[in-house]
Amino acid sequence: MKYKNFNRDILKSDFEEGWNRWPSDSNKGVPMPPAQKSCESSERINLVDPHDFKFEVKLQDAVKNRRSRRKFTQEHLTLEELSFLLWATQGVTDKDVGAHRTAPSASARHPFETYIVVRRVKDLKPGIYRYLPLDHKLYLVSTDAARMARVATSCFEVNGPQMKDAAVVFIWTAVPYRCEWRAGPYAYKLIALDAGHVCQNLYLAVEAMHAGTCAIASYDQNVVDKIIDVNGQDEFTVYLAPVGKI
Ligand SMILES: Cc1cc2nc3c(=O)[nH]c(=O)nc-3n(C[C@H](O)[C@H](O)[C@H](O)COP(=O)(O)O)c2cc1C
Repeated sequence: MKYKNFNRDILKSDFEEGWNRWPSDSNKGVPMPPAQKSCESSERINLVDPHDFKFEVKLQDAVKNRRSRRKFTQEHLTLEELSFLLWATQGVTDKDVGAHRTAPSASARHPFETYIVVRRVKDLKPGIYRYLPLDHKLYLVSTDAARMARVATSCFEVNGPQMKDAAVVFIWTAVPYRCEWRAGPYAYKLIALDAGHVCQNLYLAVEAMHAGTCAIASYDQNVVDKIIDVNGQDEFTVYLAPVGKI
């Protein structure tokens, strides 16, 4: 089988003196793009302070027991648990600037937005939400039942069961310019590397609440982009992860 657009060079770091010599917008003095996408309305949903969540699993056990889980019960997550998962994956850990988060990111560019499709979370109505890491709040994107229903089949038949039964589905998009602004053509390698850290944090965090997740890179690009209403150029889906109790 022939690979389309397969480019091994994207994985290399074959520059000699780092990005400072690359004519990126950052080196040309173009202002830094915002760390968080703006919202159409000012309505926000409060989340629980992540420090209120008691992580009672030893880190060694969380690391050792982590597995990709594809079978979930019909139990609900609590809002406290969901708040912790959002913070653990993209939460801001400096003074609301957004440079330092729970996951590392090359040049602190943090090129992702986090969308969640909420099906079963206590005290949160089902819907599609976007996480606002700078505020540790949620923004309601849509409660359209038809859009939400399409999530179950958006990752092909092979991923059907875990997508259908998840209490919450995480969808991470990339906003490539955040990283292109700094790293030019090296941005794509960095975005791919950064995404792995985010999802690994989710794998570890779910261990604390008898829940599981499964990284999903096999999905229908157009369908998922439409569900969350992103344009597929300036922002597009790169990774998904269904979460549920096990
Ligand atoms: C980048 C990446 C993409 C993945 N995509 C999928 C996927 O689309 N569907 C799926 O069922 N599992 C997917 N997985 C999960 C892997 O199949 C799983 O990590 C692997 O089988 C090892 O199992 P473990 O995670 O339980 O150790 C993916 C994992 C990674 C890291």
